[in-house]
Amino acid sequence: MNNFKPLGRVNLSHKRPANFDRFWFGAAYYPEHWDAATREHDAARMAAAGFNLVRIGEFAWDRLEPVAGRYDFALFDDTIARLGARGVQTMFCTPTAAPPVWLTRRQPEILRVTEHGSTLEHGSRQHACHASPIFRDHSRRITRALAEHFRDNPHVVAWQTDNEFHCHFSECHCPNCQTAFPEFLQLRYAGDIAALNRAWGTAFWALTYRDFAEIRTPKRDKPTFLNPAAQLDYYRYLSDAVTQFQHDQVAILRATQPRWFITHNGLFPHIDYRGPFTQDLDVLGYDCYPMFCNSADWRPYSHAFGLDATRAWSGNFIVPEQQSGPGGQAPYFHDNLEPGELRKFTYVSIARGADSLLYFRWRSCRFGAEEYWCGILDHNNVPRRRYAEVQQIGAELQKLGPALRGTHVHIDAAIAGADLVNNDAHQTLPYGLPGPGEIAGHIHANLYRDGYAVGLAHPTDDLRDVKLFVIPHWVVFDPAWVPALERWVRAGGTLVIGARTATRDLHNNVVAEIIPGCLRDLAGVTVEEYSRINLPAQRSKHLVIAGKSAVAEHWCEIVVPAAGTKSLAKWRGRHFAGRTAVSLRNVGSGHVIYAGTYLSTPVVELLLPALVKLAGLKPLWTVPRGVEVVRRQAVRKQLWFFINHTDRPVQFKTPAGKLAKLPRYGVAVVETARATISSVSAR
Ligand code: GAL
Ligand code: ZN
Repeated sequence: MNNFKPLGRVNLSHKRPANFDRFWFGAAYYPEHWDAATREHDAARMAAAGFNLVRIGEFAWDRLEPVAGRYDFALFDDTIARLGARGVQTMFCTPTAAPPVWLTRRQPEILRVTEHGSTLEHGSRQHACHASPIFRDHSRRITRALAEHFRDNPHVVAWQTDNEFHCHFSECHCPNCQTAFPEFLQLRYAGDIAALNRAWGTAFWALTYRDFAEIRTPKRDKPTFLNPAAQLDYYRYLSDAVTQFQHDQVAILRATQPRWFITHNGLFPHIDYRGPFTQDLDVLGYDCYPMFCNSADWRPYSHAFGLDATRAWSGNFIVPEQQSGPGGQAPYFHDNLEPGELRKFTYVSIARGADSLLYFRWRSCRFGAEEYWCGILDHNNVPRRRYAEVQQIGAELQKLGPALRGTHVHIDAAIAGADLVNNDAHQTLPYGLPGPGEIAGHIHANLYRDGYAVGLAHPTDDLRDVKLFVIPHWVVFDPAWVPALERWVRAGGTLVIGARTATRDLHNNVVAEIIPGCLRDLAGVTVEEYSRINLPAQRSKHLVIAGKSAVAEHWCEIVVPAAGTKSLAKWRGRHFAGRTAVSLRNVGSGHVIYAGTYLSTPVVELLLPALVKLAGLKPLWTVPRGVEVVRRQAVRKQLWFFINHTDRPVQFKTPAGKLAKLPRYGVAVVETARATISSVSAR
């Protein structure tokens, strides 16, 4: 519930290119970590690697303002000038993710408080509350000082706000929040406490409020479970608070120097990246760390999913931090990247929507909580194979960078994503069920493995090219989304709706109508009975299609098809036997499938052949298994990315009619004119 208008220029669609005038390429750089001798060759080496941008300053507030009100930007002026002389520009950061100790000691009221009442002390990072008026004053003050200082510096071209808002945790229960949360609610319910009581269902357990001032942030250390509507509004509040905090900074930066572009590096819980938070920016950022997935086999899937989920919020993005070496913090230490793997990661990120990319980090760290976080250069400052790979990519981007401009990632199949309310609503009442994101990951993996052009998109987004759209288990479904979805189906789309979708209203309360609520007419079904499945091996229920079956996990429903709706799969087992498990309704030239169970992997595998046929899906290109294919395209051209994730060399014919031979981790990018292969992208 924002009471301001975003200043930025982002229209929120998965198909939006980032509109940079070049491909920004470089690394996160921490001059404050190194002495002058160690830094001596940095600018030359960066230039030799094809860098044109570094990101600086996000954790340097103590250096930028060592004493309250006394600024010292000398190290950064010098660094920016040295880099600039070599053609490497700077993205500066507002340093508010790590306020200095003089500030936290003098104003302890800015510190966050956890739900158990402990105050987050100085000694790590992200310890200040975004709703603290005092912290917001300091945030504006340091932002203004930096903005004015760098206003006319030709080498400062961009800004990152803060760093990874909500990365370590997002909740705060400090006294500032006890004022700001009720204020947020007052705006949301237009000052009408009766409306809040209705929306929250406070008649239950005598929670009725007489005044907004009586409301506190919902802490889980209550005797037992919390009101889910109150919790969902609290999550909305957290998103709103960080959005306003960021807006303070963005407003100052834009007013000071309109030529700067502004980004922020996500993605983390309780931030609506499809709202004013991102509309305030020029482009959303995504920090990309594939090695957090320890399984080498699963890593291509999780990497692709993270990028696709990011694109769903607002289209192509910048990667302000792309993993360049193994990372280490107290609880973990990643495997090192093998030769070629850094380049492979880079191309996967670019293929799936990165319009600019910076590595984390230039040189491996030597101290602090990340003393083993390895970067492009090793601790001893010697460029080795990781640097050589980056240099190769830098050279390749000279040609690829301009070709990418204006292209978006083409998808034929989409899974519903980019909806904060559904992620958060699930968290308020998980019932031990997998969340919509987890299920989306399984569906994505199936489609990805079979070579379909898969991505994620919000139901309100542009679905024109999309043939198959799957809504996993979105309990909260806005009835306002239905008409456009229906038009898309009538025009030929195949829509799959997972169990429990549209069962709750926007306040997180169960709808009064029969399930699936506002989707029942479009799906042509009602749900007569439902059950949680806690132990699928006992009293098992199977879905059956043409003699093939899959065991239902998590949930099952007896689906009652309306006139004109067919059964696609039936139940076997218990009193569900013979009843409809999955329905199919033809609507216009399209189809609506309602699945009365969770779309777990066995169920998706069972249904996929039918769905592929109904939707007319085809793999993007014929390649050996384990080769990832992605197509980026603009009006007149197509850029095909082929990435070999296997350990073996592979070969295949490209859309340009040539034979491609790719070694382990090899990458090929092929450009074709759009008209020549329209038969492949046809619809
Ligand atoms: C990111 C963060 C960086 C660094 C990196 C490695 O999440 O933005 O500052 O911490 O992870 O852990
Ligand atoms: Zn707070």
